[in-house]
Amino acid sequence: MPQFPKGEPAPADGLIPLQAAVSSVDKTFHAYIHVPYCKARCGYCDFNTYTSEEIGSSSQGTFAQTLIKEIEFSAGVLDSSSFPSRKLSTVFFGGGTPTLLPAGDLVVILQKLESVFGLEPGLDITTEANPDSVDESYLQELKDAGFTRVSIGMQSAVPKVLAVLERTHNPDNVARAIAAAKKVGLATSVDLIYGSPTESLEDWKRSLQAAIDLDTEHISAYSLIVEEGTKLARQIKSGLVAQPDEDLHADMYELADQMLSSVGFTNYEVSNWSKTVQTRSAHNMAYWKSMDWWGYGPGAHSHVGGVRWWNVKNPAAYQERISASISPALERELIDEENRNIERVMLETRIAEGINLAWLKEQGFASSQAVAELIAEELIEAKAVFSGWIKLTLKGRLLADLVVRKLIN
Ligand SMILES: C[S@@+](CC[C@H](N)C(=O)[O-])C[C@H]1O[C@@H](n2cnc3c(N)ncnc32)[C@H](O)[C@@H]1O
Ligand code: SF4
Repeated sequence: MPQFPKGEPAPADGLIPLQAAVSSVDKTFHAYIHVPYCKARCGYCDFNTYTSEEIGSSSQGTFAQTLIKEIEFSAGVLDSSSFPSRKLSTVFFGGGTPTLLPAGDLVVILQKLESVFGLEPGLDITTEANPDSVDESYLQELKDAGFTRVSIGMQSAVPKVLAVLERTHNPDNVARAIAAAKKVGLATSVDLIYGSPTESLEDWKRSLQAAIDLDTEHISAYSLIVEEGTKLARQIKSGLVAQPDEDLHADMYELADQMLSSVGFTNYEVSNWSKTVQTRSAHNMAYWKSMDWWGYGPGAHSHVGGVRWWNVKNPAAYQERISASISPALERELIDEENRNIERVMLETRIAEGINLAWLKEQGFASSQAVAELIAEELIEAKAVFSGWIKLTLKGRLLADLVVRKLIN
């Protein structure tokens, strides 16, 4: 996960500058709930999450009630900052491990969001889950409350890869969790990680095949990022664990695209494949389209009306602020037009629809020379350029950051 950017101190009342409301007029509104608890910390992970050994279990017991107060606080802030009233277009519970909380806690949070903002009809309501943390009755409770989708952290099907990642789940539980989700009528997705130390192309093929055999509607495949400060980074530095083989990453990505395409998945963002347009992650699409979202919970990031803020990371500090009716935001950043445009290029270039060439030109991006070079290097589709869009080729997806740099320079 990226380090927290530097921002200005966030105001204690959380109020958002008036001009922000104007820029939100044509944006949908989304909620992300960050649940910062895990049973054990995986060696590669630097998300804002804590084990009970690290912080005790007290804040976990009161988490839902604290989060509900942040929902009430957010409604007050949006109202006082003259935002139009908007129903939620997606809700996403992530972490950490949201499903470490009792299902009833997730349900009361969802009910609070519904009573405060309202929910758009047919919206996606997703929770992430670790394979060991859900069973049929848990998922049934979520389904009955309106949840529509569960995203399971599978990562790999190969025991030695799971071991190097320090995943504690029983791999058999992935299939059990997916079967239970399907039985109760939830849409399903799995997350995979490729490029782990010691993982061979053959191992990756096995994991992909196992994910395909689960017959889910959606698969995300992320290249392992060795984050500074994680146990995995230390193990690699000290030579205890082999350096991931960077040269394999491209082959692994190509294998994923080939195997997933051959069974009916379509890539719709660099790391995401779905069976149909309807089964894409509507919540992630909202991020990539720079919509408005409020991130609830410790360390959560929000992006509303061109203002970005991030909450204090520590659950106890978060709880203290909420109890004192002080905004849990630590810092914020007012994104100026230039940065907003650059972010838009970074995000929209990665989605399959691509980014509009006329808009890029209006902003002074995508010089004719850059576009010609990108076509010559087979990083973008020539045919799409002629109809006014920049769309990545398979090779371009592997070098998406380079394409973005060329477009904005
Ligand atoms: C932060 S986790 C939360 C969900 C759940 N706790 C889990 O681990 O399955 C969300 C996803 O981020 C991905 N992820 C986390 N750390 C990563 C890293 N260092 N490199 C690549 N992907 C990572 C994993 O695929 C994971 O499923
Ligand atoms: S279970 Fe998920 S959030 Fe928790 S430490 Fe592992 S990867 Fe990170």
